[in-house]
Amino acid sequence: MTIPVIAIDGPSASGKGTVAQRVADKLGFHYLDSGALYRIVAYAGKQYNIAWNQGETLAEMAAKLEIRFEDGQIYLNGNIITEEVRSEEISRGASEVAVHPAVRTALLALQHSFRQAPGLVADGRDMATVVFPDAIAKVYLTASAEVRAERRYKQLKEKEIHANLQDILQDLRNRDTRDQQRATAPLQKTDDAMLLVTDQLSIDQAVEKVLQHYRQASQHL
Ligand code: DC
Repeated sequence: MTIPVIAIDGPSASGKGTVAQRVADKLGFHYLDSGALYRIVAYAGKQYNIAWNQGETLAEMAAKLEIRFEDGQIYLNGNIITEEVRSEEISRGASEVAVHPAVRTALLALQHSFRQAPGLVADGRDMATVVFPDAIAKVYLTASAEVRAERRYKQLKEKEIHANLQDILQDLRNRDTRDQQRATAPLQKTDDAMLLVTDQLSIDQAVEKVLQHYRQASQHL
């Protein structure tokens, strides 16, 4: 029997990470935060002085990284870098390193290795199109750029990190454009994906909608 995958794709700061993690918890499934992998590559590139436009060199580096997700923490070569990879700078870097086909290929086998019984919830940009095209349930989770920027602004404020709403909005728009218009594995909704716009939805409501979609899809197995 194939191991079921729920693929959740969507733009930056759409809340898909939180929703995906909760869906995984409810179903007792594994969870893959594929964006974290691109963030790690950007972070490691900076550490090793490899510029974010050096696709081939970044890919060689990526293949050698020791990456682990454990107890909600991200480990790179044994060090916890959970907070570091969430910075605005690394968010931009992740979007930049993600345009390189060689980097994407270097991360493919690692992503596939997360598909383990009893199932996987995977979030990213190309989960439904490239990494798990045979996912049993596909969701395209999005919200307007303004709502996403507001949410991100609030999160930063809560952490007492200085932030400017207009800068966040502009950064998000730049990342959206880059993620949607790159030649390789651009962010796009597949015809068989459920569109979930979360402007007016709470996290719990979004989680429930994904679970409903999954239950419906499972009935057709
Ligand atoms: O989901 P996130 O915001 O953590 O992702 C960070 C960046 O990584 C995003 O701007 C684009 C890239 N990414 C990607 O190209 N493919 C994925 N499957 C996940 C993320």
